[in-house]
Amino acid sequence: MAAPSIALATVLLLSLASPATSCSEQEMSSLLQFLAGLSEHNGLSASWRNGTDCCKWEGITCSADGMVIEIFLASRGLEGSISPSLADLSNLQRLNLSYNSFSGGLPSELLTSNIIVLLDVSFNQLSRVLQQNLSSSVPDHRSLQVLNISSNLFTGEFPSILWENKSNLVVLNASNNSFQGWMPSSFCISSTSFAELDLSYNQFSGSIPSGLGKCSALRVLKAGHNNLNRTLPDELFNVSSLEYLSFPDNGLRGILDGAHMMNLRNLAILDLGGNMLHGKIPNSIGQLKRLEELHLENNNMTGELPSTLSNCTNIITIDLKGNNFSGELQKVNFSNLSNLEVLDLLYNNFTGTIPESIYSCSNLIALRLSGNNLHGQLSPRIGNLKSLVFLSLGDNKFTNITNALQILKNCRNLTSLLIGANFKGEAMPEDENFGGFQNLRALSISECSLSGKIPLWLSKLKNLEMLFLQRNQLTGPIPAWIKNLTSLFHLDLSYNNLSGEIPIALMEMPMLTTEITAIHSVFELPVYLGHSLQYRIISTFPKTLDLGHNNFTGAIPHEIIQLKLLAKLNFSFNALSGEIPQQLGNLTNLQILDLSSNHLTGAIPLALNNLHFLSKFNVSHNDLEGPIPSVGQLSTFPSSSFDGNPKLCGTMVARLCGSDEAPPVSVPSTEQSIKRMAFVIAFLTFFGVGVLYDQIVLSRYFG
Ligand SMILES: *[C@@H]1O[C@H](CO)[C@@H](O)[C@H](O)[C@H]1NC(C)=O
Ligand SMILES: *[C@@H]1O[C@H](CO)[C@@H](O)[C@H](O)[C@H]1NC(C)=O
Ligand SMILES: *[C@@H]1O[C@H](CO)[C@@H](O)[C@H](O)[C@H]1NC(C)=O
Ligand SMILES: *[C@@H]1O[C@H](CO)[C@@H](O)[C@H](O)[C@H]1NC(C)=O
Ligand SMILES: *[C@@H]1O[C@H](CO)[C@@H](O)[C@H](O)[C@H]1NC(C)=O
Ligand SMILES: *[C@@H]1O[C@H](CO)[C@@H](O)[C@H](O)[C@H]1NC(C)=O
Ligand SMILES: *[C@@H]1O[C@H](CO)[C@@H](O)[C@H](O)[C@H]1NC(C)=O
Ligand SMILES: *[C@@H]1O[C@H](CO)[C@@H](O)[C@H](O)[C@H]1NC(C)=O
Ligand SMILES: *[C@@H]1O[C@H](CO)[C@@H](O)[C@H](O)[C@H]1NC(C)=O
Ligand SMILES: *[C@@H]1O[C@H](CO)[C@@H](O)[C@H](O)[C@H]1NC(C)=O
Ligand SMILES: *[C@@H]1O[C@H](CO)[C@@H](O)[C@H](O)[C@H]1NC(C)=O
Ligand SMILES: *[C@@H]1O[C@H](CO)[C@@H](O)[C@H](O)[C@H]1NC(C)=O
Repeated sequence: MAAPSIALATVLLLSLASPATSCSEQEMSSLLQFLAGLSEHNGLSASWRNGTDCCKWEGITCSADGMVIEIFLASRGLEGSISPSLADLSNLQRLNLSYNSFSGGLPSELLTSNIIVLLDVSFNQLSRVLQQNLSSSVPDHRSLQVLNISSNLFTGEFPSILWENKSNLVVLNASNNSFQGWMPSSFCISSTSFAELDLSYNQFSGSIPSGLGKCSALRVLKAGHNNLNRTLPDELFNVSSLEYLSFPDNGLRGILDGAHMMNLRNLAILDLGGNMLHGKIPNSIGQLKRLEELHLENNNMTGELPSTLSNCTNIITIDLKGNNFSGELQKVNFSNLSNLEVLDLLYNNFTGTIPESIYSCSNLIALRLSGNNLHGQLSPRIGNLKSLVFLSLGDNKFTNITNALQILKNCRNLTSLLIGANFKGEAMPEDENFGGFQNLRALSISECSLSGKIPLWLSKLKNLEMLFLQRNQLTGPIPAWIKNLTSLFHLDLSYNNLSGEIPIALMEMPMLTTEITAIHSVFELPVYLGHSLQYRIISTFPKTLDLGHNNFTGAIPHEIIQLKLLAKLNFSFNALSGEIPQQLGNLTNLQILDLSSNHLTGAIPLALNNLHFLSKFNVSHNDLEGPIPSVGQLSTFPSSSFDGNPKLCGTMVARLCGSDEAPPVSVPSTEQSIKRMAFVIAFLTFFGVGVLYDQIVLSRYFG
C-alpha cells in the first residue's frame, strides 16, 4: 500500500507545483513579439494574452522551473514573419513551425542559437536566411541536431550558416526549394555524427562533392531531381554506413563501379533512376545483402543481369525499365528472392523465356516484362503467383494466347492484364469457359492480329473498366452484351474488321451514360499511353469509344445522346451513312470527335457548336454539304477537318456558299477560342495526371 500512495502523493505535489512556477516577464515578452510579427494569427491570441502564464499558452511547453522549452505551432494557419525574438528564449530546445504560411526570412539567430536542438520550419514560404551581424554570435552552435527547412522558397547558393559550426548536426532537410550552385559538402567536417541529408528537388548542379566521403555516420543521402551531371565520386562508396542512397532524375554519368559498390554493405535503397549511367550492373551487387530496393530505370545501362543478384535475398523492388539490358533472365535464380514484390523490366532487350524460378516469388504483386524479346508459352506455374495484381507482358514474342488466358485465369487477384503485341496471327479464344478474371479492371490484347470474333467470355468480366482490342483482325458485329460490362468506360476496338451497325446496346453503357462516382483505383505500376502520358489512377483515363478503322455500316444512332460522359468518340474510317445526328451536340464532355472517312451526308449540325470542350474535330472525307459554320466552336478548326467533302462551302474550304444559305449566327468566335484554350489546359491538368514523360524509349507501346 505504501509505494502507490507515495507515488500518488508525488503526482499531486508535481501537479500542484507547476502553477507556482509561471513563465517570466521576459519570456512572455519574447513570445508576444513573435505574435506581433504575425499578419494572421488564426485565433492564437485567444490564449496568448499578456499577463497570463505563458506556460499555459497554446503550443508552449515549459520546464518544471517555468522556462519555455518547446514551441509547437505546426499546421496552425499562421502567416507573417518569424521574429528573431524567439532566439531570446534561453531554454528553447524544440521549435516546430512547419505547415504554416510564414514568409520572408529565417532569422539566423535561430540557426546560431546554442540551445535549440530541433528546428522545423518546413512547408512555409520562407525565401532567405536573414543574416544578422554575426560578430556577437557564438562560434560553435553545438546544440542543433535536426534542421528542416524543406518545402519553402529558398533560392540562391546554399548558405554555409545552415551547417557551419554545428558540431552536433544529425539531420538536415533542405529539399523542395530552389537552391542553386554546387551541392554543399562539408557537413561532416563540422559534425561527425551527421547522418541524414536531403537536398532533393532543388537546382544543384555539377558534381556530387567527394567531401561527403568523410561522413562516416551518414545513413541517408538524397539529392534526386537536381542537375547533378558528373560521375558518382569514388569517395561516396567509402561511406559504409549508408542505408539510403538516392539521386534519381539528375544527369549523372559513368558506370557503377563494382569494386567500390561492395563497400556499401548496409545499403537498403539504391535509387539512381533517370540518369545517364552506362555499363553493367556489377557482380558485387550480390554483396549488398540488405538491399531492398534497386532503381536503375531510365538509364543507358547494358549487359546481362548478374547471377549474383539472387544473393540479394531481402530485395523487394527491382526497377530496371528503359535501359538496354540484354541476355537471358535465366541467369538469375529468382527463387531466392522470396520477398520480391515488384519486378519491372519494361523496355529492355532481354531474350529467352520467362525463367521458371520467377514463379517461386509468391509475394510478387507487379510483374512487367513488356517491350523485350521474350518468347515461349506461359508456364502453368504462373498460377502460383497468388498475389499478382499487375501483369504486363506486352510487346514480346509470346505464343499461344489460348494457353496464356487459361493459365492466367488462376491468378485471381489480377486487376491489370496487358498482353498485347504478342501471339501474332493467332485466333482469339472463343469457346473457352474462362471462369476467372473476376477482378480484372484493365485488359489489353491489342496489336496481336488475332482472328475471330469479340469473344463471349469477356461478358463475364464484370469489373472491367478498360478494354483494348485494337489492331487485331476481329470480324463480326459488336455483341449486344457489351452493355453488361457495367464498369467499362474505355473501349478501343479500332483497326479491326468489325462490321454491322453500331449497336444500340453500345449507347447504353452505364459508365458512359450515368454519373457514377469513380473508384480511384490505382495501377501498381504507372502505365504509359502514347508518347508522353503516364497514368497511375485508372479513372483518369479519358472515357473513350473508339471504333475507327473498321467496316461499320448504317447510320449513327440518335441514341448516342445518352453517352453524356464521353470524352473521346472515334468512328472514322468506316462505312457509316446517313446524317450526322444533331444529338452529338448534346455530348458536351466531348474533347475529341472524329467522323472522318465515312459516307455521311447532309449538313454539319450547328448544334456541334455547343461542344465547347472540343479540341479535335474531323469530318473530312465524307459527302457532307452546305455551309461550314463561320462562327463558334467549329470555326476554330483548320480546313483539314473539313477536306474531302466537295459539297461543303465557306471561307474555310475556299468555296463560296450560295446566297440562299444565310450564315448561322452564334456566339462570337473569340469567346469560343478562349473556351477551347481553357479546355486544353483543363485536359492537361485532369487527364494529364499522366505526367509528361520525355523518354523516347517509353513511347513504343501501351504497357
Ligand atoms: C504586457 O503588459 C505589461 C504590463 O501590463 C506591459 O508593460 C507590456 O508592454 C505589455 N506587453 C505587450 C507586448 O503588450
Ligand atoms: C513538426 O511537426 C510536424 C507536424 O506534426 C511533424 O510531422 C514533424 O515531424 C515535426 N518535426 C520534427 C522535426 O519533429
Ligand atoms: C548589420 O550591419 C549593417 C551595417 O553593417 C547595418 O546596416 C544593419 O542595421 C545591421 N543589422 C542588425 C540587425 O544589426
Ligand atoms: C553540367 O551542367 C552544367 C550547367 O548546368 C553545364 O555547363 C555542363 O556542361 C554540364 N556538364 C556535363 C558533363 O554535361
Ligand atoms: C547509350 O549508349 C550507347 C552505346 O552503348 C550510345 O551509343 C548512346 O549514345 C548512349 N545514349 C545516351 C543517351 O547516352
Ligand atoms: C552469390 O551468388 C553466387 C552466384 O549465384 C553464388 O555462387 C555465391 O555462392 C553467392 N554468394 C553468397 C555469399 O551467397
Ligand atoms: C537485342 O538483342 C538482339 C539479340 O541479342 C540483337 O540482335 C539486337 O540488336 C538487340 N537490340 C537492341 C536494340 O540492342
Ligand atoms: C487477394 O486479394 C484479396 C482482397 O484484396 C486479399 O485479401 C488477398 O490476401 C489477396 N490474395 C493474395 C494471395 O494476395
Ligand atoms: C496451346 O495451348 C493449349 C492449351 O494449353 C494446348 O492445348 C495447345 O496444344 C497449345 N498449342 C500449341 C501450338 O502449342
Ligand atoms: C446481359 O444481361 C442481361 C440482363 O442483365 C442478361 O439477361 C443476359 O443474359 C446477359 N448477357 C450475357 C451474355 O451475359
Ligand atoms: C465491308 O462490309 C461489306 C458489306 O457489309 C462488304 O461487302 C465489304 O467487303 C467489307 N469490307 C471489308 C474491307 O471487309
Ligand atoms: C440537346 O441540345 C438541344 C440544343 O442545345 C436542347 O434543346 C435539348 O434540350 C438537348 N436535349 C437533351 C436531352 O438534353
